[in-house]
This record gives sequence, C-alpha cells and structure tokens, in this order.
Amino acid sequence: MIRVHVDHLTPGMVLARPIPVPSHPGRFLLQRGQRVPLNLVPRLKRWGIYEVWVQYPQLEFLEEVFDAELDEQQRELYHRVRCNFQRSMEHTGAALDWQEFERAVSSLNEALQRNRFSAMLQKLQAYDSYLMAHSTNVCYLSMLLGMHLEEYLIQQRRLKDPREARDLRQLGLGMLLHDLGKVRLDPRILNKPGRLTPEEMDYVRRHPELGYEMVRGHISPAAAVVVLHHHQRWDGRGYPRRVDSATGEPMPPLRQRQIPVFARIATVVDVFDAATTHRCYSAAKPPIRVLHEMQTWCQGMFDPVIEKVFYRIIPPFPIGKVVELSNGAQAVVVDFNAEEPYRPKVQLIRTEKGQPISSPALNEMDLAIYQDVFIRRVDGQEVTPYYPEAFWETTPRPEYVLS
Ligand SMILES: [Fe+2]
Ligand SMILES: [Fe+2]
Repeated sequence: MIRVHVDHLTPGMVLARPIPVPSHPGRFLLQRGQRVPLNLVPRLKRWGIYEVWVQYPQLEFLEEVFDAELDEQQRELYHRVRCNFQRSMEHTGAALDWQEFERAVSSLNEALQRNRFSAMLQKLQAYDSYLMAHSTNVCYLSMLLGMHLEEYLIQQRRLKDPREARDLRQLGLGMLLHDLGKVRLDPRILNKPGRLTPEEMDYVRRHPELGYEMVRGHISPAAAVVVLHHHQRWDGRGYPRRVDSATGEPMPPLRQRQIPVFARIATVVDVFDAATTHRCYSAAKPPIRVLHEMQTWCQGMFDPVIEKVFYRIIPPFPIGKVVELSNGAQAVVVDFNAEEPYRPKVQLIRTEKGQPISSPALNEMDLAIYQDVFIRRVDGQEVTPYYPEAFWETTPRPEYVLS
C-alpha cells in the first residue's frame, strides 16, 4: 500500500485502509477494498482528510509497519478529545471530563511503552490526515520525543525522583490540552484565512493563559505549565508576557532553563506539527521542508538538547509516501534510516520513462548506497532546496539548486 494525496487519486484506486468518519471513529465512510470515487474528494477535504492509503501490489508489507493497536488508541483518543471539547464549546463553561483525558493518556502511554523499540515515529507520521488533529498528534509526538530524552528529563527535573522525572503522562496530558484556551476565542478570528492584524494576533495569543485558567486545579502543575508555556521560546521571545502581580510592571520573560522542560519539548513539537498539517490558512508542508525551516528560521527558539534529538528521530520522508527521484523514477519510501535520515530505502513503482513496475520488491534501492540519486519531489513539490548542506558533500548537487 502507498499513501496518496487526495488530489493525486486516479480512477480505480482501491483503499488499503478504511476511511473512518472523523466524528464517529467506529463508523466508516469507505471500507478497505472499495474503490474511491473521485467525486468524494471535495468532501474528504472538507473533513480534513488529505491523504488516503491505497493498495499497491507487493507493498502490502507496509501494513505491518503500522501497529493496529496503536491506531486504535489514537483513534479513541481523538474521539474522546473531540467529544469533550465539543461539549465544552456548545455549552460554555460545561465541565470537561479531566479523568477521561488522564485515562486516555495513560492507556496511550502503556501502548507506547510496550512498543517503544519499534518504529513508532513512522507510525505517527503515517497517520491518515483526519487523525492529524493537532492536539492528539502533539500528545503522541511529545511523548515519543520524551522517551528519547529520559536522561535529560532526570537531570532537568532534579527535585523529583528519577522515576517520576521521566514519567511522560503529565507531558502527554499537558500537550493534549495545550490549545484548550482556543475554545474560548472567536472562531472567525481563529480560522481566518490570510494574515491576522496585530490586534487579532494579540487576541489569539491569549489562548495559553485562557487555557491555563481552565485546567488549573484540575490537572497536575507539571501538565498545566505545558498549557501556559508552550509558546515560550528558549531565547526569551514568545508569550505569555510576565507582569509583576503586585505592581503590574512588566517582568523579564522566561528564558532557557527557567522554562519548564516539558514546555520546552512542547514548543518544538507544536511548531513542527502546525507546519506539517493542513490548516485553513496554509497547506501542509512535507516534513523535509519543515525540518529545514525549523533549522534556519527558528534559530535560538528551541532548547538545543531537545532540538538535536528531535531532528534525529523525525523522518524527513514518511514511510509509504510516493516520491519522485532525481533520475525521474517514481518510488515509495519503505524504510527509515536513522543514521542517514535523508537517504531512506525506497522501492521503485515507475521507471524513469514513466512505465509502471510490477514488482517493486525486486526494485528496492537503498539511497544510502546509491548516493548519486536523491528524492526530488514529494506530493509534486520540489524538495531539493531543503536538504542540509552536508548532504551535497556526497551527492552531486543539481545545477538548478546552485542558481
Ligand atoms: Fe498554542
Ligand atoms: Fe498548538
């Protein structure tokens, strides 16, 4: 199976995974094995579904990469969060079911712990877009990142005993609720296409404090500070701004280690997920592009220790993605190489001349070995400018990138 953008569906393509109705995770719009009618595409987009998995001969093994149990957990989590948020939006002031969130995050944590040595990050990124709901996504991503930062967490949370210091449930819970304050904002401003005015920007920037007011006292302080400080930047930029409660005078912003370590993790994950997800005012960007932008535009924004680990574990090319190689052939990404993340394993599905290849398994290419070939396009977007400079030391750089 391969994952394709809904705009790239062609008649006759057969689903490899069902398409669930976003509001009812147990119900399906189309089942596995059904053809996708192209007139359904506008509706899928309205529902926020931009990618679907379709069958492709001999690529069925990719299904095994994605753990069914984890799928179920995330769908469940998504459903609970959605229902809970909706209830609170419909009846302003309606109580959220905090214990429900705690339970959901705990069961998610267990599933993650059991699978911790498998390729979970790939699963995460491979998620169908309808589940790419920001809060569940960053909840996952932050806990996965946290797992790679255990030593650092123990060191940074010195006052806690080591077992408690690396307990990621509070981080996950905080992330799940980090943007909760947005339900108190006017959706017309929140979902406005195009640029916000400075006044509107200030208005939207109230959401961490609004969210903090909502969660305080209901969840642990370690989780609540994630809600309050997830827009705080390592170099002191960011918000909310601090004021002295006695005098009302502005205070220096929180910076570096003054920011709780869970909130430092939140910042990295939040920026990445927001950019890789389709939103009303911007299209989804391929991970390679977002990683590049984070490393160039966001300098000084993130805790360097966390940032370094993050870049090491995020695949620039998600598994299952159809890509175009620099020699013109089409291929599917089938494996992630942590040592050389920009050179994954691929299997060819179309030749350089566009002829279909019937046995991709026999046409596997490890781009870590074939260093003169690289991935040039993802979803039709040219990604050559987003490779790190070091990549071109061993791969011939095409002329169009030099100019
Ligand atoms: Fe936020
Ligand atoms: Fe966010």
